[in-house]
Amino acid sequence: MYKISDIVDKLNSGAKLTLEEYELLINERNEELATTLAALADRKRREVYGEDVYIRGLIEISNYCVNDCLYCGIRRSNKNVDRYRLMPEEILLCCKQGYELGFRTFVMQGGEDPYYTDEILTKLISDIKSSYPDCAVTLSLGERSKESYMRLYDAGADRYLLRHETASKEHYCKLHPNTMSFDNRMNCLKELREIGYQIGCGFMVSSPYQTSKELSKELKFIEEFKPDMCGIGPFVAHKDTPFKDEPSGGCDLTCYLLSILRLIHPKMLIPATTALGTIDPQGREKGLKAGANVVMPNLSPVGVRKKYELYDNKICTGEEASECIECLRKRVEKAGYKIVTDRGDVRK
Ligand code: 5AD
Ligand code: FES
Repeated sequence: MYKISDIVDKLNSGAKLTLEEYELLINERNEELATTLAALADRKRREVYGEDVYIRGLIEISNYCVNDCLYCGIRRSNKNVDRYRLMPEEILLCCKQGYELGFRTFVMQGGEDPYYTDEILTKLISDIKSSYPDCAVTLSLGERSKESYMRLYDAGADRYLLRHETASKEHYCKLHPNTMSFDNRMNCLKELREIGYQIGCGFMVSSPYQTSKELSKELKFIEEFKPDMCGIGPFVAHKDTPFKDEPSGGCDLTCYLLSILRLIHPKMLIPATTALGTIDPQGREKGLKAGANVVMPNLSPVGVRKKYELYDNKICTGEEASECIECLRKRVEKAGYKIVTDRGDVRK
């Protein structure tokens, strides 16, 4: 006989749960259980990271994308997107502004845009690293060849974020066109780790066709794969995609999963995502209290922000970087934590 409190104790003690136990934990979710898990997760997070919250300056370098993921607003077949790409000089300016605001990690994220060849990126990365040697460079540019990942690493990139999106192959096929491959994506993550990057993966909460079965697989995958970072946020429909009428994920379920993730790997870097802040005005604060310890304010030039619309009603698209960081600083403090000027590497 399963007793849910035994499962919670087991999770909190650092023991691994079975797939069935993860599923039960998800299915038995209620307010009381969520409060219990959040308190345990917050205690663990404070043991490892104190009250520190790491900031990552997100630079959305391009909304061109060769892919056609069914959920994503910048998919190639969305003809309503006003496409842009930032030139290396513009990206360097974002870093300069970010550095002055206290950022020590720059995340270059974009659609899979063939414009950014290895030549362009290696030059850009080494320029950033020589101007800001005390900063970490994180890339989030999708699937590339192992050789390319190696060249970018050798140029100075420290970390790579590539959400696996779902740990189930069958589910992956329902979210992506058949030109995209689950195996290739998972293989990219493996290669990135082999090369030496600190790696981040992640998934959407309540993406179409996701049930507690899929979610339990996500948790198992993260438990076994042990990424340095795991980014999760609610699925939010975008009006110009095939999933436009699908319901969005909720704040409560997302926070519940954040707590479980913190308990699975207490040292993992876990962001309170923009998507979470989009579905609930207090979403990021709630995420931090549930166990998250990273926020990723936007450093992209204001002129392009609205164009990087992965989902509807994305927040922070009208604010300058300085406004966002000040707003976040207050929010983080109000939630009981504090933003630090630090590279924020994972504790080993
Ligand atoms: N809702 C929420 N998250 C989304 N992403 C893409 N589209 C959506 C959406 N509609 C997430 C994906 C991707 C990350 C950059 O944004 O998980 O990896
Ligand atoms: Fe961007 Fe509040 S964090 S406006």
